[in-house]
Amino acid sequence: MALLWYLRGAKTHIYKKKMETVLSGIRPTGNLHLGNYYGAVTSFIKLQDLYRCFFFIADWHSLTTHPTPENIQNSVRTILAEYLACGLDPEKATIYVQSDVPEVVELYLYLNMNAYLGELERVTSFKEKARKQPDNVNAGLLTYPTLMASDIIIHKANKVPVGKDQEQNMEMARKFARRFNQMYGVEFFPEPASFSLAKEGGIKIPGLDGSGKMGKSEGNCIYLCDEPSVIRKKVMKAVTDAGPQAMNSEKPEVIKNLFTLLEVVSSKDTYNYFNDKWNDCTLRYGDLKKQLAEDIVAATDPIRERIKEFSSNTALLDKIALAGAEKARESASKTLREVRQIIGFRVY
Ligand code: TYM
Repeated sequence: MALLWYLRGAKTHIYKKKMETVLSGIRPTGNLHLGNYYGAVTSFIKLQDLYRCFFFIADWHSLTTHPTPENIQNSVRTILAEYLACGLDPEKATIYVQSDVPEVVELYLYLNMNAYLGELERVTSFKEKARKQPDNVNAGLLTYPTLMASDIIIHKANKVPVGKDQEQNMEMARKFARRFNQMYGVEFFPEPASFSLAKEGGIKIPGLDGSGKMGKSEGNCIYLCDEPSVIRKKVMKAVTDAGPQAMNSEKPEVIKNLFTLLEVVSSKDTYNYFNDKWNDCTLRYGDLKKQLAEDIVAATDPIRERIKEFSSNTALLDKIALAGAEKARESASKTLREVRQIIGFRVY
């Protein structure tokens, strides 16, 4: 009897989880790197077993910084192949390309009508990008957060697995969802929460050049597709300092960066071993780097092989994208019909 109760409870629990929706996306501006992987993709893999999941490739967003892509479809296939190589499964999650779901744009338009210039101009990443590309401060860059909000709420997502760098965009998405509900007097869109498997509040994978975040535009990435020799070279070049000077001292930023990577890539024992060596001033950075490089190679080895397999199968990639687009459009058009009804437009 007790077992029956337990099983019934467990079933309800699983059912509840299934009712919640998870969504996230990555821009097709290059290969996936360790920041994308530990900041986002590892969470995707875990969550696809537990929730209704949508994972997409944000090709429209990439136009805000790369307006004339050389071959956008190939760039999209690169991310798709890498998603699959990491373990995303089209049987478990809807995997699609943003530009295959035009419903997103209509919702983006409605959200833009209720988004104000002042709040959009205050977004840090807008200010940073405007500084980086002063000749192309386009309206898409300004309204990046409304497009991202549309991506999320078009499927009424509750949870969004992203890295720490997306926190402000996520705050904006919550604001736009809340504002829509308030303006039209409905309880329609849930307020989406950020989610991180690696660390509460989101993780930031650092670069090893002492410059903070690992990022494509920072040029400091270790890619999932990098060959072992390339990974070793990149890690051995990591910026360090003269070494620990006093027992149990605070680590400077560049050394913290190495330890942050060690924490996500290596075992707890390995982390503790080198941390103890830091604390008793016997740490040799060369040993730490060698171990870190080997652990990154081991973590990426199986993915690297699968990337090669999936990348060469264009027909399979296109088939998966097409099937994903159909499923994503079904969900998106349902939301959009309701949105049109709420605002007062004709519904077909
Ligand atoms: P993008 O393409 O810059 O990055 C994709 C994902 O990787 C995470 N990430 C990192 N996490 C930790 N440490 C790092 N160094 C690091 N670098 C990248 C990002 O946080 C992100 O989760 N705006 C999004 C794309 C997007 C989106 C969305 C995401 C468009 N619409 C809707 C979620 C929901 C972006 O530019 O990600």
